[in-house]
Amino acid sequence: MTTTAVLIENTLSLLDWVLTPAVLSTLLAVVISISFFAVYAVLLTSRGRSFKGKVVVITGCSSGIGEELAYKYAKHGSKLVLAARRLDKLQSIVDQCNALGAVATAVATDVTKEEECSHLIEEAVRLYNGLDLLILNAGQGCLMKVSDMTDTKPLRAAMEVNFWGCVYPTIKALPHLRKAGGAICVISSLASILPTPRRALYGATKSAVNIFFGSLRSEEPTLHVTIVCPGFVMTEFHQNSFAAAGGPPKRKMGSFMTPKECASQIVRAVAEGKREHIMSSSGRLGNRLRPFFPGAVDRFSASHAEKSILKEE
Ligand SMILES: NC(=O)c1ccc[n+]([C@@H]2O[C@H](COP(=O)([O-])OP(=O)(O)OC[C@H]3O[C@@H](n4cnc5c(N)ncnc54)[C@H](OP(=O)(O)O)[C@@H]3O)[C@@H](O)[C@H]2O)c1
Repeated sequence: MTTTAVLIENTLSLLDWVLTPAVLSTLLAVVISISFFAVYAVLLTSRGRSFKGKVVVITGCSSGIGEELAYKYAKHGSKLVLAARRLDKLQSIVDQCNALGAVATAVATDVTKEEECSHLIEEAVRLYNGLDLLILNAGQGCLMKVSDMTDTKPLRAAMEVNFWGCVYPTIKALPHLRKAGGAICVISSLASILPTPRRALYGATKSAVNIFFGSLRSEEPTLHVTIVCPGFVMTEFHQNSFAAAGGPPKRKMGSFMTPKECASQIVRAVAEGKREHIMSSSGRLGNRLRPFFPGAVDRFSASHAEKSILKEE
């Protein structure tokens, strides 16, 4: 036999082995698995729910994060219903949203008043025949030590706005959201998961929100509920916070996130149907480590939060 013939003979017997049913089915299984994971990875990175042409209600829209959210959804071509108490501010934001190509309406709403929240949702449904996304963003800060809370009566408004101001619109919106297979996004705070000085009341109002909306999610499997926990954001929220006599302490806002960036992250988290979105990487790390090292994480969070306060000379 020539060398070529031997080579051909060996190749054929190798192919005989390679093409046995067992080897072929193993190869097929590997190819199918790889294709499945490739498709899954593509879906994972490209998934995203579009709110183009959908009805979006946003509370607390007259400034800060809510205002930026309005512009983001306006650019997406959503039908917007914007709520807050300051109607003049709201109206100019509505005009800018309309200029961006959206259909937007302002509804003056104090979220601490149940009947005004009902009216807000009724208006959205009356105007646009449904509701797809409810963003609960209206909020009131409180930056004071427990020892300074000598008069608690005015402080109750923090719970009224931050907790009940989310609950009232939600209860009214539920049947419409359910019908649309819609979504709720609630703007909580890092203070709801990591306790820090001066945020006992504020953090408590936001923790209440987390558990309320977490429970709602478990009751309503067709509803997407996204709980967002921003860290420090550069808005007028800090000046408007309840505080001890003398007003809220001045903050070093240089390192704070911009409301625009914050709104971008919120829009992305909602589109991806995320359950929870903690914004800062140190916040995410703290949240992960706290069950194992509660003391160390709390000390770090406290010192980080206190460093954001400008010390008066
Ligand atoms: N800035 C931060 O560092 C930070 C961090 C974590 C979480 N958050 C949360 O993010 C959300 C937005 O805050 P922001 O930073 O954008 O502050 P902001 O600029 O002060 O905005 C707060 C919004 O809430 C509205 N609001 C307050 N009380 C209301 C009421 N009773 N009824 C209806 N609307 C009411 C205000 O509008 P009117 O005064 O016109 O009613 C305003 O539009 C809040 O829920 C806040 O707790 C903020």
